[in-house]
Amino acid sequence: MAILEIVKAGDPGLKQECEIVDKIDSKIRKLLTNMAETMYKADGVGLAAPQIGVNKCIVVMDVGDENGLIEMVNPEIVEKEGSMIDSEGCLSVPNVFGDVERFEKVTVEYLNRWGKKKRLTATGLLSRCIQHETDHLKGVLFIDIAKSIRQGDKH
Ligand code: CO
Repeated sequence: MAILEIVKAGDPGLKQECEIVDKIDSKIRKLLTNMAETMYKADGVGLAAPQIGVNKCIVVMDVGDENGLIEMVNPEIVEKEGSMIDSEGCLSVPNVFGDVERFEKVTVEYLNRWGKKKRLTATGLLSRCIQHETDHLKGVLFIDIAKSIRQGDKH
């Protein structure tokens, strides 16, 4: 396992659309493991592959609920409803927070580390996290869509 370097806003890699993973092999599984370790070490609730310089559709998240660590390959939001506005931050944009409008409830389909198709419906923080991380895969940062931005060291 290894802690990976998290790239920061301004890096062109964060503005690119990511590639679909066509084969989930041991390299992808190792990447998932290292991404989770990096996320936990940085005290984050989510991390997308472009944040560690990999242009692939891979995200990990753990919002501290009963789901624990969720690893997603090729995630796609297939249903969405409602709206909510709350404060958001990002490991690639340190010490910046902003109010971001998101769907209240989303359903996401993805592949797990064994290539098995999964479907998850989420509300609240996990829903927000899914939307934030899948935005990373489209080259979108929360500061691109936030209604307001502020500096600080906490929400
Ligand atoms: Co982020």
